[in-house]
Amino acid sequence: MILPIAAYGNPVLRKVAADITPDYPGLAELIENMFETMHKADGVGLAAPQVNLSIRLFVVDGSPLKDTDPLLEGYKRTFINARIIERFGDEWAYNEGCLSVPGIREDIMRPAKIKIKYFDEKFNAMEDIFDGMRARIIQHEYDHIEGILFPDRVNPFKRRLIKGKLTDIAKGKVDIHYKMNFPVKKSVIF
Ligand code: NI
Repeated sequence: MILPIAAYGNPVLRKVAADITPDYPGLAELIENMFETMHKADGVGLAAPQVNLSIRLFVVDGSPLKDTDPLLEGYKRTFINARIIERFGDEWAYNEGCLSVPGIREDIMRPAKIKIKYFDEKFNAMEDIFDGMRARIIQHEYDHIEGILFPDRVNPFKRRLIKGKLTDIAKGKVDIHYKMNFPVKKSVIF
């Protein structure tokens, strides 16, 4: 099932998300729906707050970017209750976008490598080190469960330049090919 994606300005995107337990209702179905929603919207990652749930869950599928980084071929994973325990290596810039912030892309600096603890979709405890685009995508999604969006990471000068566009997104004044929830309701004129 395709889920509507929360647009910039929606308060759920600003909350620090909560851990879940293996008996979280409908977890397997939710994960399946998140993959379907992400694929339909041509995204490489999707976090639960983006589908209006403030829980520490995100999914990634880097396959569409395999030409950028061959390690992304078939790289499809679920991260539950994730904690990045170390970020290291040189910071590098990549032109990021976000399904909750359509029509805007900015160069974002992030550390090259991460060490992360999480549970997979079957609640197996995992600990991995990632680099390259995999570390990039995970850090972007991890930001979502911490209530952070990529425009927060651009410098104040650039942020001022995109402020109008961000306001337009919150008002629904944006062209998209997928289903979204906009926080600012259109005013009703009697
Ligand atoms: Ni995003």
